[in-house]
Amino acid sequence: MPRKIILNMDPGIDDAIALLMAANSTDLDILGVVSTAGNVDVDRATRNTLRILELAGRAEVPVYRGSSAPLIKDLVTSEEIHGRDGLGDSGLGDPSTRERGVYGPKFIVNALDTESNVTIVSTGPLTNIAVAFLYSPESFASLDQLVIMGGMYGLTGYSIGNVTPYSEYNIYVDPEAFMVLYRSGIDIKAVGLDVTQDPRTYLDRDLYNEIKNLNTHVARIVSMITRRVISERGFFELHDPITLSYIIDSGVLKFRSLYISVSLENGYSRGYIHVFKSRPPKRSEIGRVDAAYHIDAEKFIDILMDHISRR
Ligand code: BDR
Ligand code: CA
Repeated sequence: MPRKIILNMDPGIDDAIALLMAANSTDLDILGVVSTAGNVDVDRATRNTLRILELAGRAEVPVYRGSSAPLIKDLVTSEEIHGRDGLGDSGLGDPSTRERGVYGPKFIVNALDTESNVTIVSTGPLTNIAVAFLYSPESFASLDQLVIMGGMYGLTGYSIGNVTPYSEYNIYVDPEAFMVLYRSGIDIKAVGLDVTQDPRTYLDRDLYNEIKNLNTHVARIVSMITRRVISERGFFELHDPITLSYIIDSGVLKFRSLYISVSLENGYSRGYIHVFKSRPPKRSEIGRVDAAYHIDAEKFIDILMDHISRR
């Protein structure tokens, strides 16, 4: 039986690659994709989600527009990396399909209320999931797992912030949403910069050329949206495809259970995740996640290539 998933994302080049992998997987049943403000505003994120699904031949997958801003903070986008259109200024055009008329967090609650064993995979800021949880915490009893791309936990030498020296983008954008969730008791698998900034997993020029040579429809979309960033930077981190690959094969990542608290301050420390070395005192801002500390880079690249070469 395919695994039932809900995706929460802000496409975003690497979100789009993760979506293409999911769309091409026969092991996943995508119940819906919820867009969120993040790398680009929510209008753009919704359009990009619809367009990528359409191009992947999966226009039937329902898309739900989510939050237009983080819970408390002002939105900080990431267009300098992802392009003004969020997809590497690749000129993919507009979708011919529309999102459904249900607010993203409401869809999450409805899906959890009517389905069992659902996994949520989040590759964007966590606002929608926090709103859904605050609205209906009891619905999360049927959640199998929440897998997020977010944070860094000081577990490897690659734990270096990508917004400030101390914080990762998805958590930096909405640290309050992250705090709502890691204090909730939900089983959270957190895939952080500790593993996604391992250079063995980067899309570099060689891998880019290999993808181009695959000559499949989906691989062509991947090379279109990464062309600009590869020519300008020479490499691109695959944070979100790594996170998605764990759903396809759990052998890609290893996790360690941690007590954490996140900084809600403004300035440099916003989104910084403090990891407690021993069992901390009971305090309301402290909670738990399982954070990834090891990646099988070869396995990840195999999964990526397999899933973009199928069509
Ligand atoms: C995360 O931030 C976004 O820019 C990427 O899409 C990824 O989800 C990495 O910090
Ligand atoms: Ca993302």
